Amino acid sequence: MDEAATLERDGRDRIEAATTSEQLEEARVAILGRSGALTLALRAVGGLPPDQRGARGQELNRVRQALEQLLAERHEALAAVELEARLRTDAVDVTLPGALVPRGVPHVISQTQREIEDVFVGLGYRIAEGPEVELAHYNFTALNTPEDHPSWSPSDTFWIDDEVCLRTQTSPVQVRSMEAQPPPVYIICPGRVYRPEADDATHSSMFQQVEGLAVDRGITLADLKGTLEHFAREIFGADRRVRLRSHFFPFTEPSVELDISCFLCGGSGCRVCKHEGWIEILGAGMVDPNVYGYVRGYDPSEVSGFAFGMGIERIAMLKYGITHVRSFYDDDLRFLEQFAGAAR
Ligand code: PHE
Repeated sequence: MDEAATLERDGRDRIEAATTSEQLEEARVAILGRSGALTLALRAVGGLPPDQRGARGQELNRVRQALEQLLAERHEALAAVELEARLRTDAVDVTLPGALVPRGVPHVISQTQREIEDVFVGLGYRIAEGPEVELAHYNFTALNTPEDHPSWSPSDTFWIDDEVCLRTQTSPVQVRSMEAQPPPVYIICPGRVYRPEADDATHSSMFQQVEGLAVDRGITLADLKGTLEHFAREIFGADRRVRLRSHFFPFTEPSVELDISCFLCGGSGCRVCKHEGWIEILGAGMVDPNVYGYVRGYDPSEVSGFAFGMGIERIAMLKYGITHVRSFYDDDLRFLEQFAGAAR
């Protein structure tokens, strides 16, 4: 048999024997690669006597075209089979149940904070913020609390240096909010505060407060009482009554503490209200005129206002019957998961 026919037959055999793309590629290299059988035969044409070259070259080129065509067909067929197989093994059964991603809940303190915010936002208050690392000027001085007041003491305040402390209350935001805008101002400010406390069931050296401030023309103690009564009813139940007790804060005059009628016994006396019938929930008062002296544009002969401040932990403890403030910060999911959707 002549050499071209042998090359063609061997080539076809190799190509047809290949059952994977890899084997097919090996076959291609063996036939048409740089030192493939057909390539070498084609190269040898140049060494033939000139009168033999034309016929021989044509013959071998025909073989090359035929084999290239066959390679291409085989390649397509094998690729299709391989794709099919891959699709079969990689298939995803979309009817299988998915892997469950556990769904968290907002922390009970966050939930309580949002509830309180909702009440005041509903009354037209804006939510303000202030720094946790605060100037003594805002935490004390501008709140009518001079340096000889005991709250400046390192046993009551974490000091960073002579002029900077961790805020002990959210009240500095009262002054910052008035500096930032002319009256009227209606803001609440939730945030963390810090005090060097020995941690016990009801004290923690970090806790959270919500401050409130309303300054406008003609605001009186009656507005304070009505506002806080509305708040108490929204948070602790529609039949809550409130009472104001005289108290002292340096930056309010008069100052009061607000009690609500016990939401458990309704006032007859029980464990929750320690048989008082009333539960203290926050401090408040009319903004002391001296405080306006620290901000521009607030003339005490034209405007008046009230302020209040409450501990969020305390509100949540009362509301949910939690007995130890530590529970909020232990990050024990068995505790925290109880409050899935506790807030309305
Ligand atoms: N800042 C006071 C406290 O932490 C609470 C308070 C706020 C009292 C606003 C009066 C007015 O105890």
